[in-house]
Amino acid sequence: MKDLRCPLCRQPLQLNPQGLACENRHQFDRAKEGYFNLLPVQNKHSREPGDAKEQLQARRQFLQAGFFDPLKQRITSLIPQQTQTLLDIGCGEGYFTHSFANALPDAQVYGVDIAKAGVRLAAKSAADKNRNVFAVASSFDLPFADQSLDVVTRIYAPSKDAELWRVIKPNGLLVIVAPAENHLLGLRQQIYAEVRPHGAPVTPAGFGLVAQERLTLGVEIKEKALCRALLSMTPFAWRLAAALRVQIEDEGLVDQLDFGIYTYQRLDHL
Ligand SMILES: C[S@@+](CC[C@H](N)C(=O)[O-])C[C@H]1O[C@@H](n2cnc3c(N)ncnc32)[C@H](O)[C@@H]1O
Ligand SMILES: [Zn+2]
Repeated sequence: MKDLRCPLCRQPLQLNPQGLACENRHQFDRAKEGYFNLLPVQNKHSREPGDAKEQLQARRQFLQAGFFDPLKQRITSLIPQQTQTLLDIGCGEGYFTHSFANALPDAQVYGVDIAKAGVRLAAKSAADKNRNVFAVASSFDLPFADQSLDVVTRIYAPSKDAELWRVIKPNGLLVIVAPAENHLLGLRQQIYAEVRPHGAPVTPAGFGLVAQERLTLGVEIKEKALCRALLSMTPFAWRLAAALRVQIEDEGLVDQLDFGIYTYQRLDHL
């Protein structure tokens, strides 16, 4: 855990029997599930920041049904085998993070999310809690030393370019996954009179694009509970008219999941 730094004074954090501490005696206890809370109260802008429990549960249900498995396999295969340190930003319940940790048995794999409920679930199911470490932290103020990480992944989560650049090693990689043009197009057509296509993300400052690919998957959801889960985890779905929502839940949904996977390399200059 040598890559972690104190969120208060920015000195390195060392593991002790209770948790983590810096030389200025800022102590961060380890929760019983194995995670650390590295989000200073002053950086917490609401009582329960990040995704709400309902969104988390819905996403969990949808992930567990296997709809994202091809995406998980594809991203995992893009991570270089020689990776020693990886951070998954906005890790949620750790669905992708655990896959990276399994594929890199010698690496230190971190996951951070601002929502404690997700981090708690992620930490609970980590096989090796010292090698796969989860923390409550904000992607806008990462509790990591400068140039400490070989790879950072950001799957549907926000971040700040300068922070990504600061924590990634020279020539290290940043993998961003974002919705591509036809992601849930059918659903969006039922909501918006004119559907605006999702564009490619802007290349973060201080990085160069090295590879990009699309992964498009057809989905057919018949079970009511899974339709409901998809609608609750999809940010724009609250705009659906109530009658239409009921109809989708009753009749099922046939649509596409469409992802853009972008790999960037850190440049020397921000
Ligand atoms: C759509 S979810 C994606 C979760 C996970 N990457 C996945 O694909 O299953 C977005 C996640 O970003 C987290 N998040 C939002 N703002 C954040 C921030 N400032 N710092 C860290 N995580 C944040 C949310 O709590 C949520 O878990
Ligand atoms: Zn400190």
